[in-house]
Amino acid sequence: MSDFEKLKNQLINKLTEAKNSKEVDLIRTEIFGKNGLINSEFKKLGSLSPDEKKNVASKINNAKQELTKLFNKKLSSLENFEIDERVKNEKDDVTLPEKDFRIGKIHPVSQVIDEISSIFSEIGFSVEEGPDIETEYYNFTALNTPENHPAKDMHDTFYLEENMKTLLRTHTSPVQVRTMLNGKPPFKIIAPGRTYRSDSDQTHTPMFHQLEGLHIDKNITMGHLKGCLNYFIKEFFELEKIKMRFRPSHFPFTEPSAEVDIGYRIENNKIIIGEGDKWLEILGCGMVHPNVLKNSKVDPNKFQGFAFGIGIDRLAMLKYGINDLRSFFESDYRWLNYYGFDPLDVPTNYRGLSK
Ligand code: DAH
Repeated sequence: MSDFEKLKNQLINKLTEAKNSKEVDLIRTEIFGKNGLINSEFKKLGSLSPDEKKNVASKINNAKQELTKLFNKKLSSLENFEIDERVKNEKDDVTLPEKDFRIGKIHPVSQVIDEISSIFSEIGFSVEEGPDIETEYYNFTALNTPENHPAKDMHDTFYLEENMKTLLRTHTSPVQVRTMLNGKPPFKIIAPGRTYRSDSDQTHTPMFHQLEGLHIDKNITMGHLKGCLNYFIKEFFELEKIKMRFRPSHFPFTEPSAEVDIGYRIENNKIIIGEGDKWLEILGCGMVHPNVLKNSKVDPNKFQGFAFGIGIDRLAMLKYGINDLRSFFESDYRWLNYYGFDPLDVPTNYRGLSK
């Protein structure tokens, strides 16, 4: 056996026994390095005759190929071994105490929707939902809104098609009609959800939230509406007494219609709800128009009732002292961390809504 063969076999043995990539790297230099086995052997070619040269060069090349193969095999098996070892030692122990722990927060809008749902469910309202993408029919026509009503204006409504047949709902009122068409009276529901209008400033965002209420039965009157809203506002603001007034107004889908204001005053730059001589509008309401009942396949000679629509974001701002509506929808973690609620703090009427 030539010296070259001997050295080669020694290095192959060394390679087989190598235990980590560091050792393999050293052997790599011994074989393929500038003064390694292969190069040293090539250097000897100069002193050989042309025939011998050919013969020996092809031997060295074969050896080089064989060694390269062995080398790559060893490297990949070592890599797998090292990964296996790491995986074995890096197991996550889920029973260990947490290191970097951040509590997710519930957005004030979600919290307020839960609060409102909890309040109304106490007096027998159930929750309904409707689609954000509505038809012109449910959003306007079925709600007795005349063809030329300003609310239908392109500047307010996001139409989704040029023929103006589909749109992003401008209010939650279409859920009234969908609910009545889907069932039989009596109806006692609330419908919270997203609504859309082309508007943006400190108190308006193109997407905002409303809550619709509807109570239809045989003898429902404006008195029930007043009692219901008075109960709701007191519960929501967690106050014993609240100053509230009904102001005559107009909506196409109610007759008579009213807007509800609550009393407030400003003290040390803070708004105090429920007392004082200033008035703040918080919702629209009224007795459901007979045309809306007809469009919803409810007989207006047998059934009647009230409806109301509340701006949810506005209530959240008032209750939790938030000044700019736009900040609700900026997804700023610092804001959410400050104004958000603990996930396990589910509002109930018994435990207190926000405490
Ligand atoms: N849909 C009205 C709006 O977006 C709010 C409203 C007013 C809803 C009176 C009602 C209602 O159900 O009776 O401005």
